[in-house]
Amino acid sequence: MAKGERIVGLDLGTTKVAAVIAELDENLEPRIVGIGLTPSHGMRRGTVVNLEQTVESIKRAVVEAERMAGCKVDSCYVGIAGSHISSMNCRGVVAVEKAGGEITPKDKARVIEQAKTIGLPLDREIIHVIPIEFIVDDQPGILDPVGMFGKRLEVEVHIVTGAVTSAQNIYRSIERAGLRVKDLVLQPLASANAVLEADEKELGVLLVDIGGGTTDMAIFKEGSIRHTQVLGIGGEHITSDIAIGLRTPTKEAEETKKRYGCALANLVDEDQTFTVKGVGGRSEKQVSRRILASIIEPRVEEILTLTNREMKKTEFGELLAAGVVLTGGSAHLEGIETIAEQIFDLPVKVGKPWGTSGLTDIIADPIFATSVGLVRYGIGKQNLTLLPSGTEDRLFGNILSRMRDWLKEFF
Ligand SMILES: Nc1ncnc2c1ncn2[C@@H]1O[C@H](COP(=O)(O)OP(=O)(O)OP(=O)(O)O)[C@@H](O)[C@H]1O
Ligand SMILES: [Mg+2]
Repeated sequence: MAKGERIVGLDLGTTKVAAVIAELDENLEPRIVGIGLTPSHGMRRGTVVNLEQTVESIKRAVVEAERMAGCKVDSCYVGIAGSHISSMNCRGVVAVEKAGGEITPKDKARVIEQAKTIGLPLDREIIHVIPIEFIVDDQPGILDPVGMFGKRLEVEVHIVTGAVTSAQNIYRSIERAGLRVKDLVLQPLASANAVLEADEKELGVLLVDIGGGTTDMAIFKEGSIRHTQVLGIGGEHITSDIAIGLRTPTKEAEETKKRYGCALANLVDEDQTFTVKGVGGRSEKQVSRRILASIIEPRVEEILTLTNREMKKTEFGELLAAGVVLTGGSAHLEGIETIAEQIFDLPVKVGKPWGTSGLTDIIADPIFATSVGLVRYGIGKQNLTLLPSGTEDRLFGNILSRMRDWLKEFF
C-alpha cells in the first residue's frame, strides 16, 4: 500500500448506509476524506429485502462521500451481518512435511485447509477462517508457527459461515450501484477493528454493536477472536415499543427516543416532560420522560440480557477482564452503560472509532464503528499476500472457490 491510496468502507446497515473514504497519509495511516450517510431502505435485520431500494441508498451514500472527498471511487469493503450468520471454533492437525524440520508456509496453509473441511450445507458458505492459535508438538499459544521446528502442527480456527444468498444479494446490490466488492467482512469483526484497543483484546473483552435491526457480538481473548454472533434485535425494536406505548407515528417515536430517551427509568426525574404528536392527526400530548424511560428500559434489558446469556454460553463468560464495550447507534442511549453494568456485572464503556485522522469530529461516533472498521481492515488485509481470497468469482463461481482463506491473523 502506498501514500495516497484510497480505501472505502461501506456499511449496509438496517437503518443507514454509511460510506467512508480514507486516504493513506505519509505514515500509511488512514485519513478520512469523505463520508456519506443516507437512510437505508431495503435492508431488514442486516439482510437485503429490497434490491432496488438498497442500490439507491448505496448510490446516494457513495456520491455524498465522493463529493466530500473530491474523487471517484470504484471498489469497497463491505460488511455482512444478519441472523443467518453462525460461527464455530474448529481444529485441524497435520504432520509437518519435513518431520522434525522447519515448519513452512505450506504446512501452515495445509493445517488451516484441514481445519476448515467442515460439512457445510450447500446453501451456506464460509465467510472467514481466522486462526486463533497454533499448537506445535503440544505447545499451545503460538501465533505464527512458520520457521519453528516440530513434527505435529495443530491449529484452532474461528470459522464464520453465512447464507450464500445473503452474501450474493449484498454483492449484487453493490455491483449494481457501480462498485466492485473487494471483500466481505463480518460486521462485528469490522466494528471491533475500529473501537477496541490491543490491550482490551488481550485481557478479554466483549464487543456489542447495537444497531437498528441487529446486535452484533464479538469476544476477544489473548489478542484473538474467540466468538462472534449476530442477534436479530436492536434499536428499531425500542422505537416500535415507543410508537405503540405513546401511540405516536414511528418517525416521531424515533426522534423522541433520540432526544429524550433514557435506558433506566430511575435515572430521570418524574417532572421532566415533553410533547409528542398523536397518530392520524390526533392532538399532541405531554409525556413525562420517566414514562418514556419505562418503555425503553425493558427492551434494552431484553437486548442486553440476551447478549449476556449468549456470552455466558461460551467458555469465555467469566474471563473478560476488560469488560464490555458497547458501540453502534443505540449505544448513544443515555444510561445504557449503567444498565449494561448491572446486567453483565462487568465494567462497561461506550466505544467510538479511533485511530484515524481527517474528519475525526464526525467519524468519532458509534454509528461509524463498522464503516471505519472496514477501512482499517482493508488496510491490513491488502498486506496479505499468502493466498488469493477468491472474492472475484464469489458470485458466479462454485461454493468451494468462494471459500475464504485467512492465513494471517488480522487482529
Ligand atoms: N441518540 C440516540 N439515542 C438512542 N438511539 C439512537 C440514538 N442515535 C441513534 N440511535 C439508534 O441507533 C440505531 C442505528 O444504529 P446504527 O447506525 O449503528 O444501525 P445500523 O448499522 O443501521 O443497523 P444494523 O447494524 O442493525 O444493521 C437506530 O435504531 C437509532 O434509533
Ligand atoms: Mg450496523
